Amino acid sequence: MTARRKLVVGNWKMHGSRTANAELLRGIVAAEPFAAEMAVCAPFPYLADVAAAAAGKAIAYGAQDCSAHEQGAYTGEVSAAMLADLGCRFVIVGHSERRALHRESDGLVAEKAKAALAHGLVPIVCVGETLLQREHAQTEIVVQRQLAAVLALLGERACEIVVAYEPVWAIGTGRTATPEQAQAVHGVLRAQLQSATGHGAQMRILYGGSVKPDNAATLFAQLDIDGGLIGGAALKAADFVAIGRAAG
Ligand code: PGA
Repeated sequence: MTARRKLVVGNWKMHGSRTANAELLRGIVAAEPFAAEMAVCAPFPYLADVAAAAAGKAIAYGAQDCSAHEQGAYTGEVSAAMLADLGCRFVIVGHSERRALHRESDGLVAEKAKAALAHGLVPIVCVGETLLQREHAQTEIVVQRQLAAVLALLGERACEIVVAYEPVWAIGTGRTATPEQAQAVHGVLRAQLQSATGHGAQMRILYGGSVKPDNAATLFAQLDIDGGLIGGAALKAADFVAIGRAAG
């Protein structure tokens, strides 16, 4: 048996305001303690507010992206060092929206994960296939290729990442992968983590894509699903809390 503590991470995407965030965080911390580890990934401008609201609480926080570069003339980018300076624990890298809308390559995602680790952040590395790729039976090939790029670049430190399997067709669509579909991919990813790092049994693999209070428990009950990366349902305290409880 392994003791992987469940992890539930809210991905706020480009939503929120100082007022709305404060209310959301109040609702989450009021529900502490959780058996699962809980975290929120907020837009950059709100991280300092989130840090203040999370001070002395169990909830961790992070960002939704970081630069692959250390520092310098990269207008608009935010470095991993800056995120660490703000007390972030996590940073999402390689979300499918960034891969699709900002043409982030597997190689760039790997560089971002490396920058995150170099500054003591835990990268949450997202992988996932499109509907077309699933229909063409490419799911395993795609997610293994995406993950392999990160594992290869990180080498011995690869065991420190968190992986998030997010089928693109399930994100924001209300169309969740069935627990069996998700577990099948998680099993493949775990085997890949094991063969690359030798620590696959200790590493956490989150599921993301239309996780809601009413489907979370069944998903989290799967052998290789160690929690969730939550988009829409992370914007309502009651829903996020319910999903957190489902992981406990
Ligand atoms: P969703 O988003 O829960 O709204 O589907 C998940 C994600 O994109 O991380």
